[in-house]
Amino acid sequence: MIDAPPHAELSDQAAYAAAVQLAADAAAAYYGQGDSPLDDDAYDQLVRGIAAYEREHPEQVLPASPTGKVAGGAVVGDVPHTVPMLSLDNVFGPEDLADWAASLERRLGRTVTAWSVEPKLDGLAISARYRGGRLVQLVTRGDGSAGEDVSHAIGTVVGLPDRLADPVTVELRGEVMMTTEQFEQACAKRQAHDGSTFANPRSAAAGTLRAQDRPYVCELTFFGYGALPGPDDDSEPAARLRELPHSEIMTWVAGQGVQTTAATPVAGVVATSLEQVQERVEQIAAERAELPFGIDGIVIKCDLAADQEKAGFSSRAPRWAIAYKLPAVEKITKLLGVEWNTGRTGVIAPRAVLEPVTLDGSIVTYATLHNVADITRRGLMLGDSVVVYKAGDVIPRVESPVVHLRTGGEQPIAFPEVCPSCGDAIDKSQERWRCVRGRACRAIASISYAVGRDQLDIEGLADNRIQQLLDAGLITDFADLFTVTREQLLGLERMGETSTDKLLAAIERAKDRPLSRVFCALGVRGTGRSMSRRIARHFGAMQAIRDADAEALQVVDGIGPEKAPLVVAELAELGELIDKLIAAGVNMTEPGAVTAVAGAAEPASAELPLAGMSVVVTGAMSGPLEALSRNEVNELIERAGGKASSSVSAKTSLLVAGDKAGAKRTKAEGLGVRIVAPDEFAQMVGRFL
Ligand code: IVH
Repeated sequence: MIDAPPHAELSDQAAYAAAVQLAADAAAAYYGQGDSPLDDDAYDQLVRGIAAYEREHPEQVLPASPTGKVAGGAVVGDVPHTVPMLSLDNVFGPEDLADWAASLERRLGRTVTAWSVEPKLDGLAISARYRGGRLVQLVTRGDGSAGEDVSHAIGTVVGLPDRLADPVTVELRGEVMMTTEQFEQACAKRQAHDGSTFANPRSAAAGTLRAQDRPYVCELTFFGYGALPGPDDDSEPAARLRELPHSEIMTWVAGQGVQTTAATPVAGVVATSLEQVQERVEQIAAERAELPFGIDGIVIKCDLAADQEKAGFSSRAPRWAIAYKLPAVEKITKLLGVEWNTGRTGVIAPRAVLEPVTLDGSIVTYATLHNVADITRRGLMLGDSVVVYKAGDVIPRVESPVVHLRTGGEQPIAFPEVCPSCGDAIDKSQERWRCVRGRACRAIASISYAVGRDQLDIEGLADNRIQQLLDAGLITDFADLFTVTREQLLGLERMGETSTDKLLAAIERAKDRPLSRVFCALGVRGTGRSMSRRIARHFGAMQAIRDADAEALQVVDGIGPEKAPLVVAELAELGELIDKLIAAGVNMTEPGAVTAVAGAAEPASAELPLAGMSVVVTGAMSGPLEALSRNEVNELIERAGGKASSSVSAKTSLLVAGDKAGAKRTKAEGLGVRIVAPDEFAQMVGRFL
């Protein structure tokens, strides 16, 4: 799945010494303030380069070398650990994993028949000490033998209760991290406080765990991955805990009221063969982009206490466990430039131009920057080293600048003074800057979108034709198309009778499109094709949508308290256009919808063939589906009672996979999702075609 990664090439002793220094600094920052000058990949490559050099020149190994040390030798803290808190060795692909397992089994002299497979949570290791069932101390990993007391964080960590279910004395080990939601909240709090943000959830968690006198409190999350009875505890429960397989220890931990991965979509499982381990690795990797928290790999452990005991430990890591690393989704690269573009709704959006970087298997050169306020909040500058994030289907985004990597040569980012498309003024009253001409600025783009195949589907209206109509003053928006006369069209250059009549017929047909498509054609900000279908289906008629206030709109799946007022405002702005469409006789109802106004009974949706199913379509459609666009197939899915989705996850019920289906098919196979060919699917939904 992943090739063995490259490592830094160190040519001589000076390069080696510089690399050791850089690694030591990075480790100190990573385990200290959590603001490393290197991303994980770059650090791993550096350490592998150091290790390779040391194998060739064992006589030159420097005492500060990070190899063979926990936490790269970064020493923090003075609370001794009862049992060392070690690190994990890494593998990077199936072959690596098989090699590691083979050497472990040779050492054990037997085959391992129970492997525990869990996500590798991307946070900070912590030891939570419970006495008589009460949480008494929290200690960081530090250098592995002693850590820092961070007990002040007790009470702010979700999943780590003050009291266990039983009055036991036990040390729980696990990862403290921020979920995506907690990270966003923490960034908002920090922004409100001093205008800055955190680089990523991991460093936010590191900083938060240590912060003692912040005027604001950020929440953290704990996931347990191990339990140790007190070293001198010779009670019966303690003895039992020492004997239990890892998987059963975790069940016990969860039973004590502590959060474990069992509470997540990537729960720890026991695999009985290496094939099963690999299968679960792929399932977890497939889930990664959808998880509400970061993982950077999968941890594979011998489940049985006897195997663990016999395998033992090296100075750095247990021999009975390994981290299977996943490709990085976050890297540091250079911000080379910022481009400004006016979209079809008139919004002026910045786009980051980056030094190309490989993220989650693809090369990223552009990333979203949201808006001016966001750039200012993050304090970004041209030439900055920036943290860029991309996973799965998400659009790459710039997270933050790495301020301490600045060279002094960085330049401020210039904001546009006029609309980059038409040169008119900019309305700066909202966070998202907009051309004062609004939709009219890029009329061609909004009309082209409205007449597109998935909206009004008016054939014969290529961009040059739309431009011609605009230039001739025959239209200013797409509603005007419905009142253009035959004579007006014939008066245009390159418009003969045949093409005119064809176009007029196509425009006439467009009047009968269902509301979902008419609504979508409006290009309401914050809504796309599937959201338009949900809105149309819910309200049934344009009037009902226009009558809805922000609260009423929130009943629609995907419209929250932020989006709802935006949709209301957009509909007000589009009022004139909608009135023109109504006057022109364009259909304003959704066939088969449960009209909220009429209060009709819900259709017997349970009887529909795809009731309750989440369906994803990928690859080329064939047979009866061949002529349908992806949007039309999605419409079909929804007519048949299903929910159309674009990405495969554990929630997917069915994947329709045509020819040349790629990553989605692999992912679905990994997750055990039912896969059908287009022909079989056409049979399932036959009567809705
Ligand atoms: S078991 C003796 N399980 O990864 C070490 N570690 O790179 C046993 N980690 O220090 C660790 N998720 O902080 C284990 N499910 C998991 C984990 C996990 C994340 C962290 C942990 C460890 C680091 C090693």
